[in-house]
Amino acid sequence: MTTTLIRGRLLSFHRAPTSIDDSAAYGYESDGALLVKGGQIVASGTYAAVKASAPEDAVEIDHRPHLIIPGFIDTHLHFPQMQVMASYAANLLEWLNTYTFPEECRFVESAHAERIATRFFDEMVRHGTTTATAYCSVHKASADAFFAEALRRDMRMIAGKVMMDRNAPQGLLDTPEMGYDETRAVVRDWHGKGRNHVAITPRFAITSTPEQMEVAKSLVREFPDLHVQTHLSENRDEIAFTCELYPEAKDYTDVYARYGLLGPKSLFGHCIHLSEREADAMSETGSVAVFCPTSNLFLGSGLFPLRALSRRDKPVRTSVASDIGGGTSYSMLKTLDEAYKILQLQGERLNPFDSFFMMTRGNAEALSLVDRIGTLEPGTDADFIVLDMAATPAMALRAEVVNSLADELFLLQTMGDDRAIVETYVAGRPAKSALVAA
Ligand code: GUN
Ligand code: ZN
Repeated sequence: MTTTLIRGRLLSFHRAPTSIDDSAAYGYESDGALLVKGGQIVASGTYAAVKASAPEDAVEIDHRPHLIIPGFIDTHLHFPQMQVMASYAANLLEWLNTYTFPEECRFVESAHAERIATRFFDEMVRHGTTTATAYCSVHKASADAFFAEALRRDMRMIAGKVMMDRNAPQGLLDTPEMGYDETRAVVRDWHGKGRNHVAITPRFAITSTPEQMEVAKSLVREFPDLHVQTHLSENRDEIAFTCELYPEAKDYTDVYARYGLLGPKSLFGHCIHLSEREADAMSETGSVAVFCPTSNLFLGSGLFPLRALSRRDKPVRTSVASDIGGGTSYSMLKTLDEAYKILQLQGERLNPFDSFFMMTRGNAEALSLVDRIGTLEPGTDADFIVLDMAATPAMALRAEVVNSLADELFLLQTMGDDRAIVETYVAGRPAKSALVAA
């Protein structure tokens, strides 16, 4: 088995930074190296120390002067929405009904789902995202296409067949029974195969009847280790419609609570307009609120209160994601650039160490997967990326006057995109250059 020694500047977080000066939150090696074998990081540290521990026949790859960090993690996106991105709509519900639902109907065809899955994984690799938490469509074929491609590329992915049985076109509806049977079939066929994880995925309360929500509850009971993902409190009209559909619930969050869907492996997309009571319920159950900056701006949904949620006496766990195709970029760098601006509009700061923590270790913690991804620690998966802060002429000019790591990260976040990703390593193998070569 080949051992690879990868040299460059290394950055990996130990915990969330408390300020821009909190250098104890991360490890940085100006001349560092990773030793990789069998898809895992086996050593990480100074080049001199790692080189000394490497076998003589280790293959050496030199990425100096670039920066090596863990692969980006995107905790909420929709793979059947690649051709929905950039659709002109006034708000969430118009966007769903006019563009998104009709487009997702096409995923009943395996050939279409397979074509889009291939393109989806290409974009992930191109943009440096090595793990994503994805919604497939309602069709089992879409989940089969997604997981087969993830397996082929040996990527760590979380995804679910969407359950939805009302308020959408006929071609996009299952039934409570189908939702149950097909989710179980997806678990049987894909969970734990390669690096695949299956998530229980009721789309949102508007598109599931109470009977289907009961099914979601049964699935969570049956498979308590699986992730759960849905949408919550994204748009005022969505909230009002949900409360009409579930009049017995105290509020939107209570709909999910009544069906046992809150918990430490539950990811709730958006959570922009939560009441204090709802935030308490999220906090008490360890549920995760997923911030989707480019989508929230694009659909005019609102400003995610990141600081208000984490600063509470009962803090809410948070995470950050692209929400493709409501989101407008595959790039987590662009996503954090927009997150920064959303915090600016609220009079809050998001320093570059916060951003890079969130895209890597922070999102791994939100997924309860930090033992596998999100850091450069020995014993974890060798999913990491190589970043170039001078990737474009404009970035190179700006980089001439960069004189700290914080400046470099901020330049990458503010001006960078897929062009700043020199290489994406998946399970220790260079996947981005392989894409270009193919
Ligand atoms: N709520 C329910 N479905 C969706 C979706 O596909 N995208 C977004 N942004 N919100 C949703
Ligand atoms: Zn979404």
